[in-house]
Amino acid sequence: MTHQDELKQLVGRAAVNFVKNGMIVGLGTGSTVKFMIDALGQKVKAEHLSIVGVPTSERSRKQANSLGITTKSVDEVDHIDLTIDGADQIDKNFQGIKGGGAAQLWEKIVAINSTKNMWIVDESKMADKLGSFPLPLE
Ligand code: A5P
Repeated sequence: MTHQDELKQLVGRAAVNFVKNGMIVGLGTGSTVKFMIDALGQKVKAEHLSIVGVPTSERSRKQANSLGITTKSVDEVDHIDLTIDGADQIDKNFQGIKGGGAAQLWEKIVAINSTKNMWIVDESKMADKLGSFPLPLE
């Protein structure tokens, strides 16, 4: 595993500490979130949690289901307690941009229906100025 992957795994593991029994959890998309969903699957199993995941992509849905995490679409839930997602760049004022993984539309829909949103990033995402590479706009 690369150093960057180790950092992604660390933030993914840290993020799932915020998930409590009974929550409806938005599941973002991307390589960082993939580590988070792995950690969430382990937590659900170890702590016998009853949670529902609301995925932002087919990729995240398949991974969550394969780990025993129940998922529903955003249309099937009346709220989302917490969404955990990655981001592409974060500046020193904690402004950020995302969408590089091409799941931006669903990520937005899930995010605006969430009581809380958490972005998990490794140090490579910190930028002096946002927007140094093109991102899709949906
Ligand atoms: C998906 O559309 C994106 O917003 C991702 O959340 C973002 O690109 C971060 O992905 P990585 O964790 O793979 O860097």
